[in-house]
Amino acid sequence: MHVLWVDLFEISMRKIEICLSPDLIHRYSLENKIVVVVDIFRATSTMVTALGNGVNSILPVEDLETCRALKQKGYTIAGERNGLPAEGFELGNSPLSYLNGAFQGHQIAMTTTNGTLAIEKSKKGASEVLIGAFLNLQTTTDFILEHKEDVVILCAGWKGKFNLEDSLYAGALASKLSEHFDRDCDAVIGMSDLYLQHRNNLRPFLNQASHAKRLQNHHIEADIDFCLELDVFDVLGRLKNDLLVRF
Ligand code: MLT
Repeated sequence: MHVLWVDLFEISMRKIEICLSPDLIHRYSLENKIVVVVDIFRATSTMVTALGNGVNSILPVEDLETCRALKQKGYTIAGERNGLPAEGFELGNSPLSYLNGAFQGHQIAMTTTNGTLAIEKSKKGASEVLIGAFLNLQTTTDFILEHKEDVVILCAGWKGKFNLEDSLYAGALASKLSEHFDRDCDAVIGMSDLYLQHRNNLRPFLNQASHAKRLQNHHIEADIDFCLELDVFDVLGRLKNDLLVRF
């Protein structure tokens, strides 16, 4: 009887997984799951900040040309490649650009090196696609706990490679959900432990991250500090009909 009870308990517990790169997403079933896409430096941090500062919606776009063309259709366009504003774009990918309601009421069309691509890859069958950041960690946690689906956290990484900051966020979210989920995923175990080791010294630890160094070389340290702040916005970013909107 005991064994049966344990089996039933394990069947009933929700499952959480971490996918450490969009290049691995084909190994995961997203059907009827909540997918949280994360790109801490800086796409999803920027998106959460924009939505938290009154932007109406964000259209994630995969390529620069498509994004440029949307300016003619009334979108405010934002483009980044390799950490810098893309050629011909006034708006790059700094979250600080959206503070103080600078783009309140705007429809943003946004393309970034990794984040918007990861969002595109998350759509296959997911019941919900959320954008995750340290900036809205608790709001995302609360939403997941109020629902019943299994969860996949998709790290945007860097050009298909693992990165520290997205994986640490995934560990942070998985840690906050750990009481309610079956953690039968090595990436969940590993990243949760890594986050718990470094949660009180994230900035010094992440100084060694490849993209932090890239951004430091561009003298945009202020973005790094801002992207690592916890729960600045009580905003949930959800993908609805291909648009990211505030919930
Ligand atoms: C990305 O998409 O990888 C990031 O947003 C790049 C950045 O903004 O520096």
